[in-house]
Amino acid sequence: MLLDILKYPDPFLKTRAEKVARIDDAVKSLINNMVETMYHAKGIGLAATQVGVAKRVAILDVPTDEERKERGKHLLPLINPEIILSEGTVVYEEGCLSIPGFTADVTRASMVVIRTLDLEGQVREITAEGLFAIALQHEIDHLDGILFIDRLSRLKREMMKRKIRKSIEAEDKAL
Ligand code: NI
Repeated sequence: MLLDILKYPDPFLKTRAEKVARIDDAVKSLINNMVETMYHAKGIGLAATQVGVAKRVAILDVPTDEERKERGKHLLPLINPEIILSEGTVVYEEGCLSIPGFTADVTRASMVVIRTLDLEGQVREITAEGLFAIALQHEIDHLDGILFIDRLSRLKREMMKRKIRKSIEAEDKAL
């Protein structure tokens, strides 16, 4: 089932999601629906808060350069993910399904180690670099109610918010 993706400035996007206590059918069906929704929207990551669910659940499918068009190859469900180690810095032009049409250079750790549960409830530790590391940080941020524009300097963030507001107003006036 396709889910509605909340768009900035929907206040729900600021919600800090709650830990999943039990990986039951509701959580599994949420993940299935999120996968369908992410592929439909042509995203590489989606967090439950973006579809209006305050649970610490996210999915990722970050392709390598050679595999841009293949889906499902790296599909990774994350349940209660947390960053346990981060190193280095990297700047990457990020976008977000909740802020369509806008991108900005965001500074993040270049390498992270995360701890997460898989669908069977097993603890997994994953080391990530490159776009995979960036996407992991972006999705975990969503679960804490943080958008990529919140990671910009104050000046850049205000400029960006003004641009987004203007484009929403223009859309509202369009016939
Ligand atoms: Ni996003």
